[in-house]
Amino acid sequence: MSAKIVALANQKGGVGKTTSAINIAASLAMLEKLVLLVDFDPQGHSTTGLGFRKPDHNAGSYALIKGAPIESLVLTTEVPMLRVVPAGKDLAQMEFELFELPQLQELRNALQPVIDHYDYILIDSPPALGMITLNALTAADEVIVPMPCEFFAMDGLAELAETIRRIQAGPNPKLVLGGILLTMAEERTNLGEAVASEVRQAFPGKVFQTSIPRNIRLAEAPSHGKPVAFYDLKSKGAQAYLNLAREWIGLEFNVSKDYS
Ligand SMILES: Nc1ncnc2c1ncn2[C@@H]1O[C@H](COP(=O)(O)OP(=O)(O)O)[C@@H](O)[C@H]1O
Ligand SMILES: [Mg+2]
Repeated sequence: MSAKIVALANQKGGVGKTTSAINIAASLAMLEKLVLLVDFDPQGHSTTGLGFRKPDHNAGSYALIKGAPIESLVLTTEVPMLRVVPAGKDLAQMEFELFELPQLQELRNALQPVIDHYDYILIDSPPALGMITLNALTAADEVIVPMPCEFFAMDGLAELAETIRRIQAGPNPKLVLGGILLTMAEERTNLGEAVASEVRQAFPGKVFQTSIPRNIRLAEAPSHGKPVAFYDLKSKGAQAYLNLAREWIGLEFNVSKDYS
């Protein structure tokens, strides 16, 4: 077994990267996959969203790329099959240090010791196309791009696509666009539907069928330190992320009756 490594990336902030990282990770874990979520954003929102304080120096993903053994950094969560490597502000130093000596393989190398241990390793990334995100894309087999159903949704997408192409042409030829995930979808609004169909036309076959609705439970859950399914399982947000996880791993909808 070798984990599938998946980066959540979009250089725009507020598009749903962290919400998707936490809730896809939790959904996969609920579907009995062993999942490691690597918080790779100095803002540490995946960390706090799972109920942890931002780690001190030497206790998070910055320590990981500085050579600390990954096993010593992994935290267990309330979701039995979900683990997390937290992130704090110190990770921001990576942009400056690596800028002087570009090294794109740091994260990939740091994950190697546990790659056979997990089914999935998800990486949450910051809202920038700097060295942190480039390291995430170099480590990944797949990139998922969350995109809100808003007017400017596709703004900046060309730049992200170009970055993905450069990573494919250079350090990581096996990287694939796993899919574009429509987030914050307003149901039954013309704008939301127009944006969704524009994105689907621009990226045929690359947009997940399942989109994530705008749902207040998704915004509330992080302040309780829980994935949405552990905060309000019946909510539309929780069900959407479970459906997405099922779509993504290609399971039938009835595989895990426990969480339907
Ligand atoms: N589907 C959604 N419905 C409602 N609120 C959402 C949804 N997705 C994300 N949010 C909220 O929007 C904000 C930005 O989302 P976040 O996942 O942190 O984006 P990013 O990581 O890309 O910056 C957060 O406050 C989050 O709780
Ligand atoms: Mg985020």
